[in-house]
Amino acid sequence: MDKRQVLIFDTTLRDGEQVPGCKLNTPQKIEIAQQLEKLGVDVIEAGFPISSPGDFNSVVEISKSVSEPIICGLSRGVKKDIEVAAEALKYAKRPRIHTGIGTSPSHIKYKFKSTPELILERGVEAVKHAKRFVEDVEFYAEDAGRTDNEYLARICEEVIKAGATVLNIPDTTGYCLPDEYGAKIKYLMDNVRGIENVIISAHCHNDLGLATANAISAVMNGARQIECTINGIGERAGNTSLEEVSMIMKQHPRLNVYNNINSKLLNPISKLVSERMGMLVQPNKAIVGSNAFAHSSGIHQDGVIKNRETYEIIDPADVGVTESMIVLTARSGRAALAFRAHRIGYNLTKLQLDDVYQLFLEKADVTKEVTDDDLHEIMKLAKIAG
Ligand code: KIV
Ligand code: ZN
Repeated sequence: MDKRQVLIFDTTLRDGEQVPGCKLNTPQKIEIAQQLEKLGVDVIEAGFPISSPGDFNSVVEISKSVSEPIICGLSRGVKKDIEVAAEALKYAKRPRIHTGIGTSPSHIKYKFKSTPELILERGVEAVKHAKRFVEDVEFYAEDAGRTDNEYLARICEEVIKAGATVLNIPDTTGYCLPDEYGAKIKYLMDNVRGIENVIISAHCHNDLGLATANAISAVMNGARQIECTINGIGERAGNTSLEEVSMIMKQHPRLNVYNNINSKLLNPISKLVSERMGMLVQPNKAIVGSNAFAHSSGIHQDGVIKNRETYEIIDPADVGVTESMIVLTARSGRAALAFRAHRIGYNLTKLQLDDVYQLFLEKADVTKEVTDDDLHEIMKLAKIAG
Protein backbone atom coordinates (compact mmCIF):
# COMPACT_ATOMS: atom_id res chain seq x y z
CA MET A 1 0.00 0.00 0.00
CA ASP A 2 1.28 3.50 -0.84
CA LYS A 3 2.49 5.65 2.02
CA ARG A 4 -0.04 8.18 3.26
CA GLN A 5 1.05 11.80 3.74
CA VAL A 6 0.57 13.35 7.17
CA LEU A 7 0.40 17.13 6.98
CA ILE A 8 2.37 19.14 9.51
CA PHE A 9 0.39 22.08 10.88
CA ASP A 10 2.75 24.25 12.89
CA THR A 11 1.20 26.38 15.62
CA THR A 12 4.40 27.71 17.24
CA LEU A 13 3.31 31.25 16.41
CA ARG A 14 -0.19 30.83 17.85
CA ASP A 15 -0.62 28.11 20.51
CA GLY A 16 3.15 28.11 21.12
CA GLU A 17 3.33 31.82 21.56
CA GLN A 18 0.68 31.69 24.30
CA VAL A 19 3.48 30.68 26.71
CA PRO A 20 3.83 33.28 29.48
CA GLY A 21 6.74 35.64 28.83
CA CYS A 22 7.47 34.33 25.33
CA LYS A 23 5.84 37.03 23.24
CA LEU A 24 7.45 37.64 19.86
CA ASN A 25 7.37 40.82 17.80
CA THR A 26 6.35 40.86 14.14
CA PRO A 27 9.90 40.73 12.62
CA GLN A 28 10.72 37.77 14.87
CA LYS A 29 7.53 36.00 13.82
CA ILE A 30 8.33 36.58 10.14
CA GLU A 31 11.83 35.21 10.67
CA ILE A 32 10.45 32.05 12.29
CA ALA A 33 7.70 31.67 9.67
CA GLN A 34 10.30 31.82 6.89
CA GLN A 35 12.34 29.11 8.60
CA LEU A 36 9.19 27.02 9.05
CA GLU A 37 8.62 27.32 5.31
CA LYS A 38 12.17 26.08 4.65
CA LEU A 39 11.61 23.27 7.14
CA GLY A 40 8.73 22.09 4.95
CA VAL A 41 5.68 22.55 7.16
CA ASP A 42 2.38 22.37 5.28
CA VAL A 43 0.41 24.85 7.37
CA ILE A 44 1.55 27.78 9.51
CA GLU A 45 -0.92 28.99 12.10
CA ALA A 46 0.33 32.57 12.12
CA GLY A 47 -1.77 33.97 14.97
CA PHE A 48 -5.14 34.88 16.40
CA PRO A 49 -5.87 38.12 14.52
CA ILE A 50 -8.63 39.51 16.73
CA SER A 51 -6.60 39.05 19.91
CA SER A 52 -4.46 42.19 19.42
CA PRO A 53 -3.39 44.68 16.71
CA GLY A 54 0.11 43.18 16.94
CA ASP A 55 -1.16 39.68 16.24
CA PHE A 56 -3.32 40.97 13.39
CA ASN A 57 -0.30 42.71 11.86
CA SER A 58 1.85 39.60 12.23
CA VAL A 59 -0.67 37.49 10.32
CA VAL A 60 -0.77 40.14 7.57
CA GLU A 61 3.03 40.33 7.29
CA ILE A 62 3.54 36.56 7.41
CA SER A 63 0.91 36.19 4.68
CA LYS A 64 2.97 38.56 2.53
CA SER A 65 6.37 37.01 3.21
CA VAL A 66 5.66 33.28 3.07
CA SER A 67 4.27 31.70 -0.08
CA GLU A 68 4.45 27.92 0.03
CA PRO A 69 2.55 26.77 3.16
CA ILE A 70 -1.10 27.44 3.88
CA ILE A 71 -1.39 30.42 6.25
CA CYS A 72 -3.98 29.94 8.95
CA GLY A 73 -5.58 32.42 11.33
CA LEU A 74 -7.47 31.39 14.47
CA SER A 75 -10.87 32.74 15.41
CA ARG A 76 -13.51 31.88 17.96
CA GLY A 77 -16.85 30.86 16.48
CA VAL A 78 -17.87 34.50 16.50
CA LYS A 79 -18.72 36.51 13.37
CA LYS A 80 -16.49 39.47 14.18
CA ASP A 81 -13.49 37.18 14.92
CA ILE A 82 -13.97 35.39 11.64
CA GLU A 83 -14.20 38.66 9.69
CA VAL A 84 -11.02 40.00 11.29
CA ALA A 85 -9.21 36.72 10.57
CA ALA A 86 -10.34 36.91 6.92
CA GLU A 87 -9.09 40.49 6.69
CA ALA A 88 -5.69 39.57 8.17
CA LEU A 89 -5.35 36.70 5.70
CA LYS A 90 -6.19 38.72 2.59
CA TYR A 91 -2.60 38.64 1.27
CA ALA A 92 -2.15 34.92 1.84
CA LYS A 93 -1.77 32.83 -1.29
CA ARG A 94 -3.46 29.92 0.46
CA PRO A 95 -5.54 31.25 3.39
CA ARG A 96 -7.27 29.09 5.98
CA ILE A 97 -9.63 30.21 8.72
CA HIS A 98 -9.53 28.05 11.84
CA THR A 99 -12.75 28.50 13.74
CA GLY A 100 -14.73 26.51 16.27
CA ILE A 101 -16.25 26.17 19.67
CA GLY A 102 -15.95 24.21 22.92
CA THR A 103 -17.95 20.98 22.81
CA SER A 104 -17.29 19.18 26.12
CA PRO A 105 -19.87 19.24 28.93
CA SER A 106 -17.81 21.70 30.98
CA HIS A 107 -17.36 24.09 28.03
CA ILE A 108 -21.05 23.94 27.18
CA LYS A 109 -22.28 24.31 30.75
CA TYR A 110 -19.74 26.68 32.36
CA LYS A 111 -18.04 28.58 29.54
CA PHE A 112 -21.04 29.09 27.26
CA LYS A 113 -23.93 28.43 29.68
CA SER A 114 -25.60 26.84 26.71
CA THR A 115 -26.95 23.51 25.46
CA PRO A 116 -25.46 20.89 23.14
CA GLU A 117 -28.00 21.76 20.42
CA LEU A 118 -27.21 25.48 20.51
CA ILE A 119 -23.47 24.81 20.48
CA LEU A 120 -23.89 22.60 17.43
CA GLU A 121 -25.79 25.39 15.68
CA ARG A 122 -23.11 27.95 16.58
CA GLY A 123 -20.41 25.67 15.19
CA VAL A 124 -22.28 25.28 11.92
CA GLU A 125 -22.92 29.02 11.67
CA ALA A 126 -19.24 29.76 12.29
CA VAL A 127 -18.16 27.47 9.46
CA LYS A 128 -20.79 28.90 7.10
CA HIS A 129 -19.65 32.42 7.92
CA ALA A 130 -15.97 31.60 7.39
CA LYS A 131 -16.86 29.98 4.05
CA ARG A 132 -18.03 33.39 2.82
CA PHE A 133 -14.40 34.54 2.90
CA VAL A 134 -12.19 31.51 2.22
CA GLU A 135 -12.54 28.08 0.69
CA ASP A 136 -10.38 26.35 3.28
CA VAL A 137 -12.08 26.27 6.70
CA GLU A 138 -10.80 24.22 9.62
CA PHE A 139 -13.26 23.56 12.43
CA TYR A 140 -12.06 22.88 15.99
CA ALA A 141 -14.18 21.16 18.61
CA GLU A 142 -12.38 22.51 21.66
CA ASP A 143 -11.94 19.91 24.42
CA ALA A 144 -12.95 17.15 22.00
CA GLY A 145 -10.84 14.87 24.18
CA ARG A 146 -13.53 15.07 26.88
CA THR A 147 -16.48 15.30 24.48
CA ASP A 148 -18.88 12.40 24.08
CA ASN A 149 -18.04 10.61 20.81
CA GLU A 150 -21.61 10.38 19.55
CA TYR A 151 -22.21 14.10 20.01
CA LEU A 152 -18.81 14.91 18.52
CA ALA A 153 -19.65 12.80 15.46
CA ARG A 154 -22.91 14.72 14.99
CA ILE A 155 -21.11 18.05 15.12
CA CYS A 156 -18.45 16.81 12.69
CA GLU A 157 -21.09 15.66 10.24
CA GLU A 158 -22.94 18.98 10.39
CA VAL A 159 -19.83 21.15 9.97
CA ILE A 160 -18.73 19.02 7.01
CA LYS A 161 -22.13 19.75 5.43
CA ALA A 162 -21.51 23.44 6.17
CA GLY A 163 -18.23 23.29 4.23
CA ALA A 164 -15.45 22.49 6.71
CA THR A 165 -12.39 21.08 4.95
CA VAL A 166 -10.47 20.04 8.07
CA LEU A 167 -11.77 18.77 11.43
CA ASN A 168 -9.54 19.52 14.38
CA ILE A 169 -10.14 17.16 17.32
CA PRO A 170 -8.19 18.81 20.16
CA ASP A 171 -7.28 17.08 23.37
CA THR A 172 -7.22 20.56 24.85
CA THR A 173 -6.49 19.49 28.42
CA GLY A 174 -4.03 16.71 27.56
CA TYR A 175 -6.19 14.21 29.41
CA CYS A 176 -6.68 11.35 26.92
CA LEU A 177 -4.73 8.12 26.95
CA PRO A 178 -3.28 7.15 23.55
CA ASP A 179 -5.66 4.22 22.98
CA GLU A 180 -8.64 6.38 23.95
CA TYR A 181 -7.66 9.26 21.67
CA GLY A 182 -6.92 6.84 18.82
CA ALA A 183 -10.31 5.18 19.37
CA LYS A 184 -11.99 8.61 19.20
CA ILE A 185 -10.42 9.27 15.80
CA LYS A 186 -11.42 5.79 14.61
CA TYR A 187 -14.98 6.34 15.85
CA LEU A 188 -15.19 9.51 13.75
CA MET A 189 -13.65 7.78 10.74
CA ASP A 190 -16.25 5.01 11.02
CA ASN A 191 -19.33 7.03 11.94
CA VAL A 192 -19.22 10.45 10.30
CA ARG A 193 -20.82 10.72 6.88
CA GLY A 194 -18.56 12.62 4.47
CA ILE A 195 -15.43 12.10 6.56
CA GLU A 196 -13.58 10.75 3.52
CA ASN A 197 -13.78 14.23 1.95
CA VAL A 198 -12.09 16.06 4.83
CA ILE A 199 -8.89 15.83 6.83
CA ILE A 200 -8.95 14.86 10.51
CA SER A 201 -6.37 16.78 12.50
CA ALA A 202 -4.79 15.80 15.85
CA HIS A 203 -4.16 18.67 18.27
CA CYS A 204 -2.79 17.39 21.56
CA HIS A 205 -1.61 19.04 24.73
CA ASN A 206 1.04 17.63 27.00
CA ASP A 207 -0.40 17.90 30.52
CA LEU A 208 0.31 14.22 31.18
CA GLY A 209 3.31 14.00 28.85
CA LEU A 210 1.20 12.16 26.25
CA ALA A 211 0.91 14.74 23.47
CA THR A 212 3.29 12.97 21.11
CA ALA A 213 1.92 9.48 21.83
CA ASN A 214 -1.63 10.72 21.33
CA ALA A 215 -0.85 12.43 18.02
CA ILE A 216 0.80 9.25 16.71
CA SER A 217 -2.12 7.17 17.93
CA ALA A 218 -4.42 9.50 15.97
CA VAL A 219 -2.32 8.99 12.83
CA MET A 220 -2.52 5.21 13.31
CA ASN A 221 -6.29 5.57 13.32
CA GLY A 222 -6.73 7.80 10.29
CA ALA A 223 -5.70 11.38 11.18
CA ARG A 224 -3.98 13.08 8.24
CA GLN A 225 -2.73 16.23 9.95
CA ILE A 226 -0.83 16.84 13.19
CA GLU A 227 -0.86 20.23 14.93
CA CYS A 228 2.41 20.79 16.74
CA THR A 229 5.03 23.30 17.80
CA ILE A 230 8.79 23.61 17.70
CA ASN A 231 10.27 22.35 21.01
CA GLY A 232 6.73 21.36 22.04
CA ILE A 233 6.11 24.82 23.45
CA GLY A 234 2.57 25.88 24.23
CA GLU A 235 -0.05 26.48 26.92
CA ARG A 236 0.81 24.93 30.31
CA ALA A 237 2.87 21.78 29.63
CA GLY A 238 2.91 22.51 25.90
CA ASN A 239 1.74 20.98 22.63
CA THR A 240 2.84 17.99 20.58
CA SER A 241 6.44 18.59 19.56
CA LEU A 242 7.04 18.89 15.81
CA GLU A 243 10.49 17.37 15.94
CA GLU A 244 9.24 14.32 17.81
CA VAL A 245 6.27 13.46 15.60
CA SER A 246 8.08 14.15 12.34
CA MET A 247 10.98 11.89 13.37
CA ILE A 248 8.71 9.13 14.71
CA MET A 249 7.00 9.02 11.32
CA LYS A 250 10.40 8.92 9.58
CA GLN A 251 11.94 6.25 11.84
CA HIS A 252 8.98 3.86 11.85
CA PRO A 253 8.17 2.45 8.39
CA ARG A 254 5.42 0.35 9.99
CA LEU A 255 3.31 3.51 10.28
CA ASN A 256 3.37 3.68 6.46
CA VAL A 257 3.21 7.47 6.45
CA TYR A 258 5.49 10.30 5.39
CA ASN A 259 5.76 14.03 5.97
CA ASN A 260 7.52 16.85 4.17
CA ILE A 261 9.82 17.95 6.99
CA ASN A 262 13.48 18.45 6.10
CA SER A 263 14.74 16.87 9.29
CA LYS A 264 18.24 18.33 8.92
CA LEU A 265 16.75 21.73 9.81
CA LEU A 266 15.18 20.56 13.07
CA ASN A 267 18.04 21.49 15.37
CA PRO A 268 18.69 24.92 13.81
CA ILE A 269 15.02 25.90 14.06
CA SER A 270 14.80 24.57 17.61
CA LYS A 271 17.68 26.88 18.58
CA LEU A 272 16.13 29.83 16.74
CA VAL A 273 12.77 29.47 18.50
CA SER A 274 14.44 28.93 21.87
CA GLU A 275 16.57 32.05 21.44
CA ARG A 276 13.85 34.32 20.11
CA MET A 277 11.40 33.25 22.83
CA GLY A 278 14.00 33.17 25.59
CA MET A 279 12.81 29.69 26.47
CA LEU A 280 15.44 27.05 27.18
CA VAL A 281 15.11 23.55 25.74
CA GLN A 282 15.45 20.90 28.45
CA PRO A 283 18.76 19.05 27.91
CA ASN A 284 17.10 15.63 27.76
CA LYS A 285 14.44 16.73 25.24
CA ALA A 286 14.08 14.14 22.46
CA ILE A 287 15.73 15.06 19.13
CA VAL A 288 16.75 18.65 19.99
CA GLY A 289 17.95 18.57 23.61
CA SER A 290 21.67 19.14 24.15
CA ASN A 291 21.98 15.61 25.57
CA ALA A 292 19.92 13.88 22.87
CA PHE A 293 23.12 12.54 21.25
CA ALA A 294 25.47 12.68 24.27
CA HIS A 295 26.81 9.49 25.83
CA SER A 296 28.37 9.56 29.25
CA SER A 297 28.36 6.12 30.84
CA GLY A 298 31.28 3.81 30.07
CA ILE A 299 29.12 0.94 28.82
CA HIS A 300 27.22 3.13 26.38
CA GLN A 301 30.34 4.97 25.21
CA ASP A 302 32.12 1.72 24.45
CA GLY A 303 29.10 0.54 22.43
CA VAL A 304 28.72 3.78 20.47
CA ILE A 305 32.44 3.98 19.67
CA LYS A 306 32.31 0.43 18.27
CA ASN A 307 29.11 1.07 16.35
CA ARG A 308 26.95 4.19 16.65
CA GLU A 309 23.71 2.24 16.17
CA THR A 310 24.28 0.26 19.38
CA TYR A 311 22.84 3.16 21.34
CA GLU A 312 21.51 5.58 18.72
CA ILE A 313 18.31 5.08 16.73
CA ILE A 314 18.78 8.32 14.78
CA ASP A 315 21.85 9.48 12.88
CA PRO A 316 22.53 12.90 14.48
CA ALA A 317 23.36 14.33 11.04
CA ASP A 318 19.76 13.57 10.01
CA VAL A 319 18.46 16.12 12.50
CA GLY A 320 21.15 18.73 12.00
CA VAL A 321 23.53 17.72 14.79
CA THR A 322 27.17 17.51 13.66
CA GLU A 323 28.04 14.40 15.64
CA SER A 324 27.33 12.35 18.75
CA MET A 325 29.14 13.49 21.90
CA ILE A 326 31.28 11.30 24.07
CA VAL A 327 31.20 13.16 27.37
CA LEU A 328 34.05 12.36 29.76
CA THR A 329 32.88 11.88 33.34
CA ALA A 330 33.86 9.63 36.24
CA ARG A 331 31.47 7.05 34.70
CA SER A 332 33.52 6.90 31.46
CA GLY A 333 35.72 3.95 30.64
CA ARG A 334 39.06 3.56 28.91
CA ALA A 335 37.50 3.32 25.44
CA ALA A 336 35.98 6.78 25.78
CA LEU A 337 39.17 8.26 27.15
CA ALA A 338 41.26 6.76 24.31
CA PHE A 339 38.70 8.00 21.77
CA ARG A 340 38.68 11.58 23.04
CA ALA A 341 42.47 11.63 23.49
CA HIS A 342 42.90 10.44 19.89
CA ARG A 343 40.67 13.27 18.67
CA ILE A 344 43.00 15.85 20.15
CA GLY A 345 46.15 14.17 18.89
CA TYR A 346 47.22 11.50 21.41
CA ASN A 347 47.48 7.89 20.24
CA LEU A 348 47.82 6.08 23.55
CA THR A 349 49.40 2.66 23.97
CA LYS A 350 47.69 0.25 26.37
CA LEU A 351 50.22 1.04 29.09
CA GLN A 352 49.90 4.78 28.61
CA LEU A 353 46.13 4.45 28.74
CA ASP A 354 46.33 2.63 32.09
CA ASP A 355 48.46 5.42 33.55
CA VAL A 356 46.39 8.24 32.16
CA TYR A 357 43.10 6.61 33.18
CA GLN A 358 43.95 6.87 36.90
CA LEU A 359 44.83 10.56 36.51
CA PHE A 360 41.66 11.05 34.51
CA LEU A 361 39.45 9.49 37.22
CA GLU A 362 41.00 11.70 39.88
CA LYS A 363 40.24 14.75 37.76
CA ALA A 364 36.73 13.58 36.86
CA ASP A 365 35.80 13.06 40.52
CA VAL A 366 36.58 16.72 41.09
CA THR A 367 35.33 18.43 37.93
CA LYS A 368 32.25 16.32 36.96
CA GLU A 369 33.13 16.70 33.25
CA VAL A 370 36.65 16.45 31.81
CA THR A 371 37.28 18.85 28.95
CA ASP A 372 39.88 18.80 26.15
CA ASP A 373 41.93 21.35 28.11
CA ASP A 374 41.83 19.06 31.14
CA LEU A 375 43.00 16.19 28.94
CA HIS A 376 46.00 18.20 27.69
CA GLU A 377 46.85 18.89 31.36
CA ILE A 378 46.62 15.20 32.20
CA MET A 379 48.87 14.24 29.25
CA LYS A 380 51.40 16.80 30.40
CA LEU A 381 51.40 15.30 33.90
CA ALA A 382 51.84 11.80 32.40
CA LYS A 383 54.58 13.15 30.11
CA ILE A 384 52.81 12.00 26.96
CA ALA A 385 53.38 14.01 23.80
CA GLY A 386 50.63 14.57 21.24
O1 KIV B 1 -6.13 23.32 22.46
C1 KIV B 1 -7.08 23.74 21.79
O2 KIV B 1 -8.22 23.28 21.90
C2 KIV B 1 -6.83 24.83 20.86
C3 KIV B 1 -7.94 25.23 19.96
C4 KIV B 1 -8.20 26.69 20.05
C5 KIV B 1 -7.65 24.79 18.56
O3 KIV B 1 -5.73 25.34 20.80
ZN1 ZN C 1 -4.23 24.06 21.78
